[in-house]
Amino acid sequence: MKFFVDSADVDAIRELHDFGMVDGVTTNPSIILKSGRDIMEVTREICSITDGPVSAEVVSLKADEMIAEGRKLAEIAPNITVKVPLTWDGLKACKVLSGEGKMVNVTLCFSVNQALIAAKAGATFISPFIGRLDDINLDGMELISDIRQVYDNYGFETQILAASVRSANHVTQCALVGADVMTAPPSVIKGLASHVLTDKGLDQFVKDWAKTGQKIL
Ligand code: E4P
Repeated sequence: MKFFVDSADVDAIRELHDFGMVDGVTTNPSIILKSGRDIMEVTREICSITDGPVSAEVVSLKADEMIAEGRKLAEIAPNITVKVPLTWDGLKACKVLSGEGKMVNVTLCFSVNQALIAAKAGATFISPFIGRLDDINLDGMELISDIRQVYDNYGFETQILAASVRSANHVTQCALVGADVMTAPPSVIKGLASHVLTDKGLDQFVKDWAKTGQKIL
């Protein structure tokens, strides 16, 4: 499963990239707001860190304007993935932009049918939002699993990019049901290394080593 970083924090992306944890990056208008930076400038900087797909989201609601924005965003770097919302206009924009050879990430997916029509519109990635479904007491992971089954039934090549991943358990479940990619904030990715028994075991080893009075270096 590929790991994308759901952030525009360049320091955090660089840190994860330096030890091989970044296969790509996703951003959205809320993430750009949080960064406090200009979308073109910060996206260009992210693309200089990773060669993997970097999703940059259009903000217009009409297909023609989304297409124009997508073309402008795609000029930033060859690894830009234009992110469009899962609306009828977004799907039209997806069809045109993917027809031009651009990678397209169709975002804000909350149903299997939405994932199905995004694949038919030529999406490179579909982004089902797990956490936001869990927030309203629906099963986000079941959606990932159902999309996997439908895509496999018909051989769709659109990659399932599990989004709104909020916990280590989400990451485990995504891997078990066969998501192609998961995108999560840096804190969630770093948290994957943690286990209470690792901390406890290491604490004991440190104490016992001190008692030996030995040194390796
Ligand atoms: C994905 O592309 C989205 O940017 C993101 O995963 C949304 O996550 P959230 O629901 O935690 O805001």
